[in-house]
Amino acid sequence: MKKRLKAHKEKILSRFSNEIGIDLGTANTLVYVRGKGIVVNEPSVVAVNQKTGQVVAVGSAAKEMLGRTPAHINAIRPLVDGVISDFEVTEEMLAYLMRRAGEYMPKKFLGPRVVVGVPSGVTNVEVRAVRDATKNAGAREVYIVEQPMAGAIGIRLPIHEPVGSMIIDIGGGTTDIAVISLGGIVRSKNLKIAGDKLNIDIISYIRNEFKILIGETTAEHVKKSVGAVIASEPIETTIRGRDLITGLPREVVITDSDIREAMAQSIDILLEASKEVLETTPPEILSDIMKRGVHLVGGGALIKGLDILLAETLKLPVTVAEDPLTAIARGAGIILEDLEKYRSVLIESEDDLPSSK
Ligand SMILES: Nc1ncnc2c1ncn2[C@@H]1O[C@H](COP(=O)(O)OP(=O)(O)OP(=O)(O)O)[C@@H](O)[C@H]1O
Ligand SMILES: [Mg+2]
Repeated sequence: MKKRLKAHKEKILSRFSNEIGIDLGTANTLVYVRGKGIVVNEPSVVAVNQKTGQVVAVGSAAKEMLGRTPAHINAIRPLVDGVISDFEVTEEMLAYLMRRAGEYMPKKFLGPRVVVGVPSGVTNVEVRAVRDATKNAGAREVYIVEQPMAGAIGIRLPIHEPVGSMIIDIGGGTTDIAVISLGGIVRSKNLKIAGDKLNIDIISYIRNEFKILIGETTAEHVKKSVGAVIASEPIETTIRGRDLITGLPREVVITDSDIREAMAQSIDILLEASKEVLETTPPEILSDIMKRGVHLVGGGALIKGLDILLAETLKLPVTVAEDPLTAIARGAGIILEDLEKYRSVLIESEDDLPSSK
């Protein structure tokens, strides 16, 4: 009865507010506006003037400043490992990006209803932090969905059917490995090993092997251009950094095989974790996955050769989803286009929080 009343009230209120979906990621934040699609896609970086406390830039403008700011400006990544590490800055970033999305929406009396994704297995405290930050940024109502579920919906897996699907979301801060069936997550694992960790691996490898210090932006660039987890034709690139011994700038040529070695340990952990999830998956679902394959989303899905390496390790077909970087935001969008249909996948209020997995 209470639920019906609430649904009725919601129906009336929804006339006065917009609906948006947000993929609040460690590396990138995307905003989907109902009826419009993805209208904002920016790196999750905020530049703050330490003297005045004011936000100087958000998104790509702020990312360009990473590692290049004068003393009084700080370029901050407010999310680390998939969770909010700087609450106030996250809130400011969300408010700014929601305002930007507002340019694509009709003016409404009330704040928007927002669907936001969180990594699988986050704690209640972390869910509450996302909910509060989104509310403080101006949302009227916040619905939380686990990111692998949003990703599965985004790439149109049949999540409501009695058919098992497996999805791996490799983002900046976290990798979510999930098996889904009948609208629920049947098995999942969340690792803090994803794109950012690979950048750090590359920085340490180059420091140890070449005695050169490079920044995160350079490491990320090298990962995307030269990184490949299986050997094919040799690729090389020149990088510049600071010589650790002389303190002066120096150039070195590095190859795909260097980067492969740098990333090997983290990639192994990722493969192992995927195997472990499969090993505990019920046999009926396993047979569905054997038939239908494993789906990769998130920016890490684009690591060259990862699909082939995973397919060899798991002995299953593996496919990289189309446009893997936007899958979660597209899923959030599909959910808000039909909230009733997807209500069961939402963590609506504090009492609905999933018991820790
Ligand atoms: N072509 C590519 N090759 C390798 N890595 C890539 C490529 N393109 C993007 N990435 C990596 O993908 C990561 C960003 O992916 P994504 O936007 O899915 O993360 P996120 O959703 O912000 O993070 P999370 O889900 O962990 O909070 C970055 O680490 C980036 O370096
Ligand atoms: Mg993500």
